[in-house]
Amino acid sequence: MVSELDKATVRMKDPEQVKNIISALRKGGAGKLQVISDFDMTLTRFGFNGRRCPTSHNIIDNSRVISEEGRKKLKDLLHYYYPIEIDPYRTMEDKLPLMVEWWTKAHNLLSQQKILKSDIAQMVKESDVMLRDGFNIFFDQLHQSRVPLFIFSAGVGDVLEEIIRQAGVFHPNVNVVSNYMDFNDSGILKGFREPLIHTYNKNNTVLKNTEYFQQLCTRTNILLLGDSMGDLSMADGVTSLENILRVGFLNDRVEEQRGKYLEAYDIVLEKDETLDVVNGILRFILPQTELVQPKSP
Ligand code: TMP
Ligand code: MG
Repeated sequence: MVSELDKATVRMKDPEQVKNIISALRKGGAGKLQVISDFDMTLTRFGFNGRRCPTSHNIIDNSRVISEEGRKKLKDLLHYYYPIEIDPYRTMEDKLPLMVEWWTKAHNLLSQQKILKSDIAQMVKESDVMLRDGFNIFFDQLHQSRVPLFIFSAGVGDVLEEIIRQAGVFHPNVNVVSNYMDFNDSGILKGFREPLIHTYNKNNTVLKNTEYFQQLCTRTNILLLGDSMGDLSMADGVTSLENILRVGFLNDRVEEQRGKYLEAYDIVLEKDETLDVVNGILRFILPQTELVQPKSP
């Protein structure tokens, strides 16, 4: 059915159930489907050539516009809070206030750095960020089939939009809900807009007042993509949900987190830097449009 599911990176608790969900998604067709995806470390690579790739926040932290002192403080926050974010032995309830603390401190530090709106494109150009291999097939396939792609991110919206714009895949079917920067009249960063989105409040509490909420509810078949346990609630706002397939990228502390991920995600992709499996599933679900061949003279 989907040959990519035989890849060595794929793990499933219940392969039969996965098969049934994929069949149901195919039956429902493009008209009923929406893709709800996290951004950082889900649509972007976790690592490349043995080095970590940046999140949308890290792109700003590592850029030339941040002072030496600011960069050090942001690094210290990352080294303190990231291990908490992914700690498999702490509950989400326990982590939640600490994540609010991290995001609040980081956003306050960034807001003191006199970042210009016009700096963002250059920051992204000079960064080591990479979308996962196969990203163009993923974005183009959804666009061609008119399937909405909803990116729900606790990263920085202005930065992530610039990444997909520079990659040439910011098609009109893409909707983003994320943390957006607030600039003053001179184009200098003065803060971040509400509501604050962090790893563990990606649910309808932050979606209720967004324009996208209505559209979200009309597509009842869902392909959900994430890399964190907090990404699992991204589809909670869809009231009349029919079928959902959850695909989770397990990037870090694989051995320790495997059990939890297998319980929560239908398909777990271990240290897989590609979108191959997702693209294989979409190819099976969506009717394939003929490639337009150039006319011979
Ligand atoms: P997301 O992948 O759920 O959208 O979350 C964004 C990621 O950003 C999350 O894994 C933590 C990370 N992050 C940073 O790298 N630096 C920061 O300053 C903050 C607040 C978050
Ligand atoms: Mg993520």
